[in-house]
Amino acid sequence: MKKKLVVLTGAGISAESGLRTFRGNDGMWEHENIEDVCTPGALRRDPKRVMDFYNFLRKGLPEHKPNAAHIALAELEKRLGDRFLLVTQNVDNLHERAGSKRILHMHGDLMKLRCMNHPDHEFMFKGEETLETKCPFCGAGTRPDIVFFEEVPLYMDMIQNALRDCDEFVYIGTSSVVYPAAGFKNFAKRFGAKVTCLNLEIPAHDPDTDVFVQGKATEIVPKWCEEFV
Ligand code: OAD
Repeated sequence: MKKKLVVLTGAGISAESGLRTFRGNDGMWEHENIEDVCTPGALRRDPKRVMDFYNFLRKGLPEHKPNAAHIALAELEKRLGDRFLLVTQNVDNLHERAGSKRILHMHGDLMKLRCMNHPDHEFMFKGEETLETKCPFCGAGTRPDIVFFEEVPLYMDMIQNALRDCDEFVYIGTSSVVYPAAGFKNFAKRFGAKVTCLNLEIPAHDPDTDVFVQGKATEIVPKWCEEFV
């Protein structure tokens, strides 16, 4: 039988490309308050502060290159075709730059902006967003295409369908504390998938996870992908 695979990635897969994770030592949320840059309230109170935070992250992205783990997943996608789906919590573009195509950014995408009035008006954006930036479709104001805390992640229907239908689910480089992504392993397991965790730190026993592989993403992901049949 040809197996279907869903992969979930988190900040840990980009750590060796030099991008900060969120909760680790020296993580992003040690330097910034979530309430100042990543909530709907922050956007209402001080949109410039929020835009500037994501402008800074967007501007820095080209310095960071995809690593062996991103590349291995893009190669695995080529091998599996439509039996493969990559869901990422990351807003960076390292998966795309490694060649991934079948990818859903459930927490948004740094390289896009969204219309303030129409959530489906989204567009690629490379520069600095300001209070004067306008939606190219309707002329309204814009916001970063980032799913803030208190907001519903994107593509949930497609993700749930894929999780229900897959034979294997693997989650990589995520602390598994932010829902709904943290619940995907339980959901996939209930529908019969084998569940694997690839991470630097191995959490306490988790009844939903069948296999744990501990190590750096650049070492364990290429090996795991090669062995996937
Ligand atoms: P976290 O920072 O919470 O977790 C990163 C995980 O990666 C940890 O479990 C680390 O042990 C692991 N890790 C670190 N370096 C690694 C390496 N070289 N190889 C393998 N694993 C490594 O990041 P996420 O789980 O992605 O949301 O965070 C989830 C969400 O919380 C993010 O998408 C973001 C954040 O708030 C929003 O901004 C909406």
